[in-house]
Amino acid sequence: MKIKSANFVISNSNYKKCPPADYPEYAFIGRSNVGKSSLINMLTGRKSLAKISSKPGKTQLINHFLINENWYLVDLPGYGWAKVSKDAKAKWSVMIEEYLMNRTNLCCLLILIDSRLPPQKIDIEFITWAGTIGFPLTLIMTKCDKLSKGKTQANLSALKKELKTKWAELPPIIMSSTISKMGRDEILEFIESVNKSFNENV
Ligand code: GTP
Ligand code: MG
Repeated sequence: MKIKSANFVISNSNYKKCPPADYPEYAFIGRSNVGKSSLINMLTGRKSLAKISSKPGKTQLINHFLINENWYLVDLPGYGWAKVSKDAKAKWSVMIEEYLMNRTNLCCLLILIDSRLPPQKIDIEFITWAGTIGFPLTLIMTKCDKLSKGKTQANLSALKKELKTKWAELPPIIMSSTISKMGRDEILEFIESVNKSFNENV
């Protein structure tokens, strides 16, 4: 799919203030610093559409971007940031849970996982929670430019093994890098196919 336009629409902390739920929507979630905002910039080909930082905790709100005037990408704040207070964590959970549970046009939750790390408890817990609720999920391994192929594959295999202890069928997993643009075509093709079925069903 060609990206003809990509525009920031609105940031907010309340799902009720999100744009009308009229277009198919894809939300990026994952640990702080995993590369959610960077991936949005890589996919859209706009360097600073979503704000990024080398320090975790940059994205704090629900951010909507309208792509090609007919689908939304959503950048969410990350989980698992150690420096956040208990109170802030509780607020994050409420904000994200309410958004995820009430956003009727949400077609897929894209969960980003850092390919440099062995399976992290917090990611497994989040994937398990999201899977139990029944969200359509896709996992995206980020920063695949960082480690050797062998080490990246070892982390991927360990993640699959861990997930297989809970799930008979694994969600699709896409490897990505914002440096080499690995995964860009695959993610956009996936979104294009889901957009088609969304539009056939309205
Ligand atoms: P929060 O908003 O804090 O939750 O973080 P985030 O998940 O949005 O991460 P962000 O996109 O801000 O990126 C965090 C850091 O990782 C930045 O320094 C990025 O440049 C870097 N980064 C993101 N993706 C990649 C990648 O594919 N490869 C490399 N080498 N660095 C990346
Ligand atoms: Mg971010």
